[in-house]
Amino acid sequence: MQLREYFEKHNQGHVFKYWDELGEAEKSALEAQLKQIDLDELDELVNTLVKGGNKGGQAAADFSTLKPAPYIALPENKDADEQWKNAKLVGEEAIRKGRLACFTVAGGQGTRLGFDAPKGLYPVTPVNGKSLFQVFAEKILFADKKYGVKIPWLIMTSQINNAATVKFFEDNSYFGLDKDDVIFFSQGLMPAVDLDGKIIMEGKGRIVMTPDGHGGCLRGMCRSGALAKIRARGADCISYWQVDNPLVDLIDPYFLGFHILGKSDMSSKMIPKAYALEKVGHFCLDGDKVCVIEYSDLPAEYQELTDENGKLKFIAGSVAIHILSADFVESAGGDKGALKLPFHRANKKIPFIDANANLVKPDKPNGVKFEMFVFDALPMSKNPVIIEGARGDEFSPVKNAEGVDSPATCKADQKKQWARWLKAAGVEIPVDDKGVPLANIEVSPLFATNQDDFVKAWNALEPKPEIKDGLYIS
Ligand code: UD1
Repeated sequence: MQLREYFEKHNQGHVFKYWDELGEAEKSALEAQLKQIDLDELDELVNTLVKGGNKGGQAAADFSTLKPAPYIALPENKDADEQWKNAKLVGEEAIRKGRLACFTVAGGQGTRLGFDAPKGLYPVTPVNGKSLFQVFAEKILFADKKYGVKIPWLIMTSQINNAATVKFFEDNSYFGLDKDDVIFFSQGLMPAVDLDGKIIMEGKGRIVMTPDGHGGCLRGMCRSGALAKIRARGADCISYWQVDNPLVDLIDPYFLGFHILGKSDMSSKMIPKAYALEKVGHFCLDGDKVCVIEYSDLPAEYQELTDENGKLKFIAGSVAIHILSADFVESAGGDKGALKLPFHRANKKIPFIDANANLVKPDKPNGVKFEMFVFDALPMSKNPVIIEGARGDEFSPVKNAEGVDSPATCKADQKKQWARWLKAAGVEIPVDDKGVPLANIEVSPLFATNQDDFVKAWNALEPKPEIKDGLYIS
């Protein structure tokens, strides 16, 4: 059989060890898994990342020569600043013309949150417990109405959570969006290998395949046909965000305007780090290339460096919010594309079958997963633009069950934003010393998604509701 020879030739013939014992269904399932693997690519990864000991991506950069990446700073009042005002006009026009598509990477599960389902299903708003997906859907609906368009929304799932994600949208009638405007695709999978580079088997007829990282979205968008679908609708700019951040300003005309005016392949939002060791990526310049160096790769002494004014040198935190141009996605994700994202290695505890075909759950890392990171596309991109965003209006992810970046901090940040909007509309409400309203309140994205729109909608609202516990403004 050709497939068997192919695996034997690449020293991975052991995946056929139990072939003769397998039933027909198991044989087809294994065959389907194996056919997804590019063994030339795997050989290279094993040689460089597993046997070569390279960690992959930018982790190998020479930190001593890194410089902070330049960015467009946020003015006090965006609309009083010519550059920002102009960017907004350009962005708004592009949205009205249908040039923008939305895109959420949602391949992960809510495991770290103790939530056994796709993360996008996690209830995140303080009064109604709306899911992350519902918040995004309603923000898109608001923009559709505001700009008189139908903005397509791409959602990247993984084989682990695709069915549950699609069912959630079906069960909730797509939260009011047209089914045709929501395009799901599953990201690719990569085989996991042991420390000798051999593909790990978790059953006699099953190898371990794991999602290829959020960077897999570039080839996922191309291979699945999702990119072609949005291009056919006229969209050439893609607003990218992670499923864990309900505060994201996902249709931001200023950001889009800067991206278009800058003729950028890939633009990014930075937020000044809250403290030196905040667990975010860092926007840096490696030579003349913009890159993101993860908190786990940049040594603490560099994360803590300050300039002559005592300001953090590497202040620009990556919050995983980007705009990608469709042409760039095609060149970096298409099979004929000239560019290719590097893989990173992650050491993991991966259950495997031993010589007697018994399943073993290891207590220390025994294998390697390969992942691509979307921000590794930055050094390959032309004219990467970075603009500053305001943390309170852009970023409060749910990552951990408790403590930082938890459901509690995220709910508090949502309420703080709504308290600021109410204040701008002339309504002072009692808040604690951190600015969090004492009353549990919620504003629907269908009512407003930013302060200016909130003030307009609030002024038009008659009668005005009493601000009290459980108030839902919709
Ligand atoms: C990530 C970024 C970090 C950034 C921070 C902001 C990485 C390696 N780090 O950290 O630079 O400052 O977010 O919040 O990304 N996902 C997939 N498929 C995959 C893997 C991940 O869709 O195969 C999605 C997840 O659903 C999630 C997002 O990517 O939406 C982030 O992944 P996660 O592993 O949680 O990254 P963080 O460590 O939080």
